[in-house]
Amino acid sequence: MTRPTHRPATWFVTGTSRGLGLELVSQLLQRGDNVAATTRSADRLVSALGADVGAGRLLPLEVDLRDEEAVTQVVRRTTDHFGSLDVVVNNAGYGFLAAVEETSSQDVRDMLDVQVVGAYNVLRAAVPVLRRQKSGHVVNVSSVLGLTAVAGWGLYSAGKFALEAISEALAAELADFGIRVTIVEPGYFRTSFLTTDSLRLPEATSDAYPGLRAMVQDHLELQGSQLGDPARGAARIIEHVVRDEDAPLRVLLGSDAHAYATAKVAALQENLDHTRETAPLTDFPVG
Ligand SMILES: NC(=O)c1ccc[n+]([C@@H]2O[C@H](COP(=O)([O-])OP(=O)(O)OC[C@H]3O[C@@H](n4cnc5c(N)ncnc54)[C@H](OP(=O)(O)O)[C@@H]3O)[C@@H](O)[C@H]2O)c1
Repeated sequence: MTRPTHRPATWFVTGTSRGLGLELVSQLLQRGDNVAATTRSADRLVSALGADVGAGRLLPLEVDLRDEEAVTQVVRRTTDHFGSLDVVVNNAGYGFLAAVEETSSQDVRDMLDVQVVGAYNVLRAAVPVLRRQKSGHVVNVSSVLGLTAVAGWGLYSAGKFALEAISEALAAELADFGIRVTIVEPGYFRTSFLTTDSLRLPEATSDAYPGLRAMVQDHLELQGSQLGDPARGAARIIEHVVRDEDAPLRVLLGSDAHAYATAKVAALQENLDHTRETAPLTDFPVG
């Protein structure tokens, strides 16, 4: 048992005024759960939810996730307001599409500030609460690009690979406290992710990558026809958390994500096979 069933569960979800986060909040309120929803714009969140705003069960929290003290305060406000905290979802994130050499140090800092520092800020504030009550669930929304990196997505993958590493370590650290950790790995979902509201591009580009420029255009044109349905994605995440059983650490969302991950595992296996004979050559001789 990782969370109580005698009262509505309390969820803390980041990045909620759009996309998957908004869909999660909406479905959780419809279920009757409590939701502390962080956003950079509470107005945008509340107007996007419209009639879904559950009576007293929504706590919109306008916060900059990069600000450690502000994040600590909103986690405290959540437990003060609802008297509980059961599920923490690190969902906030954005895409960045550029070649490695086109990526400025500011681009790197901005991405890691949101996807790594922000997630750490939330975890540092929330994990002690879950640990003391010996129950809870942490859900970190990564991407299939947290498992495999492709041209143009290097910085985004750097953030998501880091989030995956943190999640794996956290799962091992918290297992004895009855706290589960889940990494969600979506493929392309029909959210705002590929719109100019969300997707970021480099300030300066190089002529050396015409293929990447075409890829950016293709991605912008993909908006509206991505395979993944955010409503089904949010429902899968909720079902995974609510279902009280041993589930794998990673939850892939979308057949595209599953195919990319399968190809990564095959390539990794081939690489391991190729170095099986040579890897032990660097060991000190035994005896
Ligand atoms: N859609 C996809 O194809 C896809 C695929 C794989 C993984 N994902 C991941 O799924 C998660 C949700 O994305 P989505 O698809 O729902 O995209 P979305 O519609 O663009 O929503 C992203 C959410 O993240 C928050 N966010 C964006 N930039 C931020 C920033 N600089 N600082 C703080 N918060 C920021 C926003 O929250 P506020 O505006 O409310 O602050 C927004 O609600 C992300 O972590 C994304 O990387 C998405």
